[in-house]
Amino acid sequence: MPHASVRPVAMRDLTTLKVGGPAELWEVEDAEGLAEATREPYRVLGAGSNLLVSDAGVPDRVIRLGRAFNDLRSVDGPPELWLGAATPLPGLVRRAQKLGLSGLEGLLGVPAVLGGAVAMNAGTRFGELSDTLQQVELFVNGALERVPASALNLGYRHAEIPDGAVVTRARLRLTASDPEAVQARMVEVDAARKSQPKIKSAGCAFKNPPGDSAGRVIDAAGLKGLRVGDAMVALEHGNFIVNLGNATARDVCELLERIRQRTPVPLELEWRRWGF
Ligand code: FAD
Ligand code: EPU
Repeated sequence: MPHASVRPVAMRDLTTLKVGGPAELWEVEDAEGLAEATREPYRVLGAGSNLLVSDAGVPDRVIRLGRAFNDLRSVDGPPELWLGAATPLPGLVRRAQKLGLSGLEGLLGVPAVLGGAVAMNAGTRFGELSDTLQQVELFVNGALERVPASALNLGYRHAEIPDGAVVTRARLRLTASDPEAVQARMVEVDAARKSQPKIKSAGCAFKNPPGDSAGRVIDAAGLKGLRVGDAMVALEHGNFIVNLGNATARDVCELLERIRQRTPVPLELEWRRWGF
């Protein structure tokens, strides 16, 4: 297998919001591939589910961890898992449930890969990745290094990944439990998501302000259905911006701006913006 493969892409094809222009995708399979890919300025892509990429695309290399970093098939029992960062979270959550391992069920419905879930400390009010994360492996300054989760200062949608570091693996500690008990918790988490739209989005656009919900704030301001081009504040949930078809990054930025102008509380973007 080659260490890395390179191809031109349109970022709209690699992001869940389906917005964003051209980039050079470096799909890497090992540390040698990472060493090669990181010789020029780069960014790291997970599943692209929390990204707003500009219509002009990104001049930097976009690095994505390849199949060699997807360890979903090796998840087979022990409560402690050491998994590649390209392991898809939805599959992992389901697999853990089947094996009677508890700790990840709060992340049901988060369409990330493990590396992106670490970088964002993905979570819901039912639990965050930091509840189970013990250790990560980082590719940093040309070498692989292991650091304890505590070094990342994980908080609400917050992780301090050293500048330029690529999360390559993560160690999760789950708890042996009854598959049916885990399933029951998942039903609860799923129910809390019923108000979320099913069409193209990047999840919640803004972080929740302390003690409140950005969705409630945007809803209370009467902004559901507000539209710029094909970007619209979801009718189901005020903190989701949906792409009705051909939204551009410019549309989305204009919509974010209008939301901020018309809401009484300062709203901090949860999405990562690339290429602006
Ligand atoms: P990306 O979006 O690709 O990247 C996000 C950031 O992480 C970027 O800065 C990127 O550079 C960095 N990154 C990615 N991989 C690595 C790596 N290996 N090493 C270093 N940095 C890396 N989020 C929640 O927290 N809770 C939710 O309930 C939730 N629900 C969602 C529902 C929907 C329908 C959608 C579309 C999104 C939702 N999100 C939610 C947002 C999103 O899934 C999370 O932020 C997730 O953690 C992003 O992971 P990703 O792999 O897609 O990362
Ligand atoms: N609300 C409204 N109107 C709306 C949206 C919400 O009044 O349009 C009210 C709800 O009725 C509820 C409260 O606001 O009383 C909270 O809403 P919800 O339960 O939907 O949770 P949230 O705070 O809006 C958070 C996360 C979601 C996560 C859910 C489920 C953030 C920014 N959002 O949403 O995460 O899935 O809880 O736990 O923390 C994401 O981060 O991308 C994301 C989707």
